[in-house]
Amino acid sequence: MSQPRPDAPAAQRLPAELLYSDELAHLAAHDQAPKPPGWNLSMPAVLDFIAGATVKGKRIRQKIVCAPSLIERALVTLASSRALLLVGEPGTAKSLLSELLAAAVCGTSTLTIQGSAATTEDQIKYGWNYALLLNDGPSPQALVPSPLYRAMQQGRIARFEEITRCPPEVQDSLLSILSERLLMVPELPAASTVFACPGFNLIATANTRDRGVNEMSAALKRRFAFETVFPIASHDSELALVISEVSRLLAQDRVPVTPNEPLMDVLVTTFRDLRQGVDREGGAGERLSSVLSTAEAVSVAHAVTLRGYYLRGDNGDATGLVEALAGAAVKDNPDDLKKLRRYIEHRAAKRNGEHWAAFHAARQALPQ
Ligand SMILES: Nc1ncnc2c1ncn2[C@@H]1O[C@H](COP(=O)(O)OP(=O)(O)O)[C@@H](O)[C@H]1O
Ligand SMILES: [Mg+2]
Repeated sequence: MSQPRPDAPAAQRLPAELLYSDELAHLAAHDQAPKPPGWNLSMPAVLDFIAGATVKGKRIRQKIVCAPSLIERALVTLASSRALLLVGEPGTAKSLLSELLAAAVCGTSTLTIQGSAATTEDQIKYGWNYALLLNDGPSPQALVPSPLYRAMQQGRIARFEEITRCPPEVQDSLLSILSERLLMVPELPAASTVFACPGFNLIATANTRDRGVNEMSAALKRRFAFETVFPIASHDSELALVISEVSRLLAQDRVPVTPNEPLMDVLVTTFRDLRQGVDREGGAGERLSSVLSTAEAVSVAHAVTLRGYYLRGDNGDATGLVEALAGAAVKDNPDDLKKLRRYIEHRAAKRNGEHWAAFHAARQALPQ
């Protein structure tokens, strides 16, 4: 088997509980407030972890741009008998919020089921090791617990990503787990039952662009508290987030450049104008059908900066931005490319500043 390269970091992406382990340990050490049963931290400490704060002289990084009341409501739900469902457009940080909540509340964010059209009940409850099953019949050793099963046993938070991509009848296998908080294994000789330990709960996420929550059964909907996650409202907050995320990604890969801030401003303004169909001066414009989320803005900004650094030795330019935008814009609908072209031709030309002029001049980089 090939060995990892000696200079390679341990993982491309660490889960939140490892990436921010020092912050979590510091918060736990200074946490005086009461904790719900089975939780590692109190609610105010989790709020500080996600929304950022200075706690006893240590700066805790802000990790999500959202109203603190959204995090508060999510925490109250997790301490209650209902599960949490985060709903919203793709790329609004639903998965990130669920990861941070799970990491802070129970110390692990990896008890996760990824929902898809192919998800089966086995993946939600438990499966079997077929070699052992055929040899010895059903036994606790042959049982392969799902992440949800383990979360119940350990009193932790399980995550269910993209739950509405699963067929509704598969989603419904959650019903008894969420209402009775137990899971039966009738195949085992002494039919065994797993009772959820204190601290167990579930955070699911659902994209409004997928099949949507309307196909979810009414019985299951009642077991969830719904929270809608909206795109970032303010231009300045979105720009600051894009710059800080790109800086973090560059530092992680030891790329020694800083983001090109005026270019990032052009990028974020373009994303917001084409996402909302209204330009920042308040004029009506065209809206793209492709998703132009903040998550997408971060990836485009990162790609433009990497291209600058690795191919030209700078921190990104307007041509790189136009090409990356074309890639982001044509995913769903070729008409979006025409709208992007009209935007650059008409809007960019009217804006002041050398970066807007360069952006306008780079429009010939758009594919024909
Ligand atoms: N409000 C926000 N706060 C922080 N990061 C955000 C926000 N919105 C988008 N992002 C960016 O999007 C990425 C996460 O997207 P993700 O959680 O996968 O979205 P979703 O699950 O809603 O599709 C983050 O890593 C961050 O770069
Ligand atoms: Mg997601």
